[in-house]
Amino acid sequence: MYHDNIRRQFPIFTNHDVVYLDSAASSQKPSCVIDEISDFYRTSYANVHRGLHHLSASATVRFENARNSIASFLHASSPSEIIFVRGLTEGMNLLSQTFGRMVVQEGQTILLSEMEHHSNVIPWMVVAKEKGAKIQWIPVLPSGDLDMESFKSMLDENVALISVVHISNVLGTINPIQEMAKLAKTKNIPIIVDGAQAAHHIQVDVQALGVDFYVVTGHKMYGPTGTGAIWGNCKHLEKMPCYQVGGEMVDTVTYQGYTIKEPPSKFEAGTPHIAGNIGFGKACEFITSIGWDYIKKHEGELMVSCEKALSEINGLRILGSAKQKIGVFSFEIDGCHPQDIGTLLDQENIAVRVGYHCAEPLHQKFSSQGTVRVSLGIYNNVQDIEKMKVSLHKVVHMLRG
Ligand code: ALA
Repeated sequence: MYHDNIRRQFPIFTNHDVVYLDSAASSQKPSCVIDEISDFYRTSYANVHRGLHHLSASATVRFENARNSIASFLHASSPSEIIFVRGLTEGMNLLSQTFGRMVVQEGQTILLSEMEHHSNVIPWMVVAKEKGAKIQWIPVLPSGDLDMESFKSMLDENVALISVVHISNVLGTINPIQEMAKLAKTKNIPIIVDGAQAAHHIQVDVQALGVDFYVVTGHKMYGPTGTGAIWGNCKHLEKMPCYQVGGEMVDTVTYQGYTIKEPPSKFEAGTPHIAGNIGFGKACEFITSIGWDYIKKHEGELMVSCEKALSEINGLRILGSAKQKIGVFSFEIDGCHPQDIGTLLDQENIAVRVGYHCAEPLHQKFSSQGTVRVSLGIYNNVQDIEKMKVSLHKVVHMLRG
């Protein structure tokens, strides 16, 4: 069967009898990604962009091919719009410290949504404080959707920029980014998107979305940890200052000063995570090879089974129920502490995440002291959902006595 073939490509499932329902925290890795990294170290390793020797040249080709793969995966108009970063957090820090500091002025507003992950909150709080700007929050409705009427009314000439998540890591809601970008453009407001939970679940086309920046993280996309990318519109990248400085980003250096390279090198000081980014490029090719139609169908079916399984537990409340969502369910169960549920599920070999999932303000909004989160990946199957359901009933029974 097609799905068995996909699952078999993830060696963790032949080496471990785990029901892995924590893909929103980090995904498992397919053999092609693991092999690509191993092969690079075994056959072609050298530093990139620096050596005249043939190993460095072939390492550079593999590294830049990875950039090309990520560019075409996100439908960027050019690979030079792809900046390698260590992950979403570094991506948002880079954007806030360069683009943010460049455009945010005293007394202006930075628009974030109430469903942001901490990594798309704190970097903007730092800039707001430094600049004497304030943050305004696009409200989340009880359904888990963004309040688009409020969003429209918040767009005025005082807004310096918008930074918003594409898919919530708690609610699973898919936000209407294209519509938001269109509205933002009518007021000339730049929009940055956190795509950490999106780019492996739904097809992302940065040009069609009409956004200014889109940030992804490799480790959630079946790629290695310590990898990620910013796609940025070249008109911004050219004007933005450097983030870090040192080797690689400079053109010439004298005892008096230095000149900088063009993007993306301008933003990639120091030796990059060469092998990791090569693996990240492979992960993008892996997702493309599965095909978006299949991903949509398979993950959609699993999501329905998962929601049904959870709805059969008495006293279980799922945060959010947006119509457009992916397979992420954060829930509370009457009389059961999330920590206890997570610990007991682990004893049944079911891996879930518990707590605030790095989105504490959103939990406050939903009057929640923490949730259990089940999140799906392409390797999950109906047997995983069935095992989770049986174990969850058992755990709830034990906790309620
Ligand atoms: N951002 C990751 C999560 O949602 C770590 O679990």
